[in-house]
This record gives sequence, C-alpha cells and structure tokens, in this order.
Amino acid sequence: MKNGKFGFGILGCGVISTAHLKGIASCPQAYVAAVCDIDEDKGRKLAAENGNAKFYKDYRDLVKDPEVDVVSICTPSGIHAEGVVAAAQAGKHLLCEKPLDICAEKMSRMIEAADKARVKLGCVFQMRTDAVNIKAREIVRSGQLGRLTMGDAFMKYYRSRAYYASAGWRGTWELDGGGALMNQCVHGIDLLMWLMDSPVERVFARAKHLVRDIEVEDTCCASLQFANGALGTIIGTTSCNPGEPTRVEIHGDLGSLCMSDKKITHYAVTSEPDGLAQDQTQSPQESQNDSEDKMSAMNDPGKISLRGHSFLVHDLIAAITEDREPYIDGRSARRAVDLILAIYESVRSGKDVQVKYGA
Ligand SMILES: NC(=O)c1ccc[n+]([C@@H]2O[C@H](COP(=O)([O-])OP(=O)(O)OC[C@H]3O[C@@H](n4cnc5c(N)ncnc54)[C@H](O)[C@@H]3O)[C@@H](O)[C@H]2O)c1
Repeated sequence: MKNGKFGFGILGCGVISTAHLKGIASCPQAYVAAVCDIDEDKGRKLAAENGNAKFYKDYRDLVKDPEVDVVSICTPSGIHAEGVVAAAQAGKHLLCEKPLDICAEKMSRMIEAADKARVKLGCVFQMRTDAVNIKAREIVRSGQLGRLTMGDAFMKYYRSRAYYASAGWRGTWELDGGGALMNQCVHGIDLLMWLMDSPVERVFARAKHLVRDIEVEDTCCASLQFANGALGTIIGTTSCNPGEPTRVEIHGDLGSLCMSDKKITHYAVTSEPDGLAQDQTQSPQESQNDSEDKMSAMNDPGKISLRGHSFLVHDLIAAITEDREPYIDGRSARRAVDLILAIYESVRSGKDVQVKYGA
C-alpha cells in the first residue's frame, strides 16, 4: 500500500487491460503500481501511460513486488491459473478475468491457493453488475414467476476473421479453451445460472465450426435441465452476421421475465394460480441508458462497457478491507466453465451429460 492506496499489478497488457486500468482509475483507493507482459514494447508503453508504473517481463517478478497488493489477471484464458496461483502464494489479492480458467483441475488449484493464502479471489463477469440484471435476479428470487419452467440464453455474436487473427491464442483449445462458448458466451451462461438461482444439472449439446478457420466451435446449441427442475436452452455463436444483443428469458407458471440489451423487454406476472400474467414492463427510462452502456460487444470485442470493471475493482477493495468474499468469487465463477466443459463432453460423446461442479 502507498498513501493508503492499494497497488495493482496488471498481468497481460492487451485488449482487456484497458477496462482494468479504467476501473482502477475510477477508485480513489487504488493505483497502478506495475504492469507485466511478455511483449516488452506493449508493456513498457502501458507502464509509461499509467504514471510510469514499473514494468516486468516475467510474472514471477511482478508478484514479488512489495508495492503490488492486487494482481489483475488479463492474460490468455488458458494461463490464468499460473498467474493466480503464483500471486496467491506471494500473498497478493486477485481480480481474474473470465473465464476463471479453461480446465477444472486448474480452477480447483486456483481456489485452493487463494484459500490457503487467505487472499481474495475476485472474478470478472460484468453482466452480473448491470442494474437490470440485479433487478431481474431480485424478481426471480422473490418467487413472483412461480415455479420456474424454462431458462434460455441466446448469445449471437459476430467475430471477424481479423478478430481471430489478432492474437495467436484466440480460437485454440490450448489457450482459449474452446470457441464461442468458452470465450464470448461464458458471460451469458454465467448470467443464466445466476438469474435462475440454480445450476444446470444435465446437458445435451451439438456444436460445430461453420465459418471461421478455427479448431474450436463457432456455433453451439445445448439443451439444459436445471437442478430446480426447469428446462432450458443455450444458443451460442460467433458466426451470426452482424450479431444480436444477448437475450436471457426466464419463465415460470406465474410469469415471464425477458432481458435484452440491458433492458427488461418483457415482465409479466399473475398472483392467480390459473390467471393470465399481466404486463408489468416499465418504461425504458428505467434501464441504464448512458452512452457507455449502449456500447455492445456483440460484434466488436473492444466495445465492452467499462462500468462493470469499475464496480468489481471497488468491490474487491471493499472485500479486502471488510474481510468478506468478493461479489463474484472463484467458486461462483467456475460454475459457468464447469458447465461449458460438460457441454463439450456432450458434443464429443453425443450423450446426455451430468455436469460436475468442482468445489
Ligand atoms: N470481461 C470481458 O468482457 C473480456 C473481454 C475481453 C477479454 N477478456 C478476457 O481477458 C483475457 C485476455 O484477453 P485479451 O482480449 O485482452 O487478450 P490479448 O491477446 O489482447 O492480451 C493478452 C496479453 O497477455 C500477454 N501475455 C501472454 N502470455 C503472457 C505471459 N505469460 N506473461 C505476461 N503476459 C502475457 C500478451 O502478450 C497480451 O498482451 C482473456 O482471458 C479473455 O477471455 C474478458
């Protein structure tokens, strides 16, 4: 800590590091102490642009720096675990990008390392920080929709050839851990289970790569059975042109709640067991409507809203100060990845698969 501020170390200086830097800049109790990247030019440039922060080429040196209190993990998904475990063992708190990692065993090691070192492991799923989704979760948890019957997520992204060519790890099993599902749709998959307040228990899926020259899927359909008995669907792709806003739709015997583009597009409930649900959808002004939130990553990954990262940086610092779990902790963040791994197993085997959630 310096002058009462937490020093952040940015591990990985690519696209998403910008969101972490903006989040840190928005928080009076945080500053950038150091950055690290194997690409020295990129790393040194980012260091210079951020108050002449220190630069490291090797993450093992970054995590040793006594000025670094928190490490932001912004490296390719398949090497998140290395950074998290090393930082935790060095006593640093963590803000790890989605997906937590791409491998169940490595996610267990990350959580265990953070537990053992008594450091906070906060994870990024910024959709959970959107006011509209927080409100939607309250509605579902209040029981107004009755017995939940269906939970669906439609995630139709467009990712260009140039996107996949922009970094060697994109679209690879080894470092991206999968395609449309593991990289883009993991957001909506996490959101769906969080809103349903229930994990998915069983899954049957088909996936293909139809358009891009990548080894992983660019298109997937999965049929779900939730632990609470509801059924549902995951539709995920990066091959829809020009891409559509993500939609999540939740239904129960007493009502329906549909969200899209940071708005509740349909909300209808009845209190009568056999009544027809009446529209409760409020005017669009109620949804977040500043220009940043209108930006959409559906066809441009550089256009994610930065609001969520600020929320999560503030929350992590509060979690450290108050010694509580972060808003999204490792155990909660790994669920979406565990489900995606089961979807991939179903695709490979052609069978209905029981999802195994790690502790
Ligand atoms: N929350 C979101 O909406 C969101 C958006 C984009 C990316 N992400 C996630 O952020 C992570 C990074 O994605 P990106 O698009 O910024 O990738 P990127 O390729 O733009 O950046 C990754 C950086 O890590 C560096 N790097 C690779 N190996 C390293 C190592 N061993 N040590 C230090 N640096 C290393 C690379 O040189 C590169 O600069 C991924 O896990 C991705 O899923 C999240």
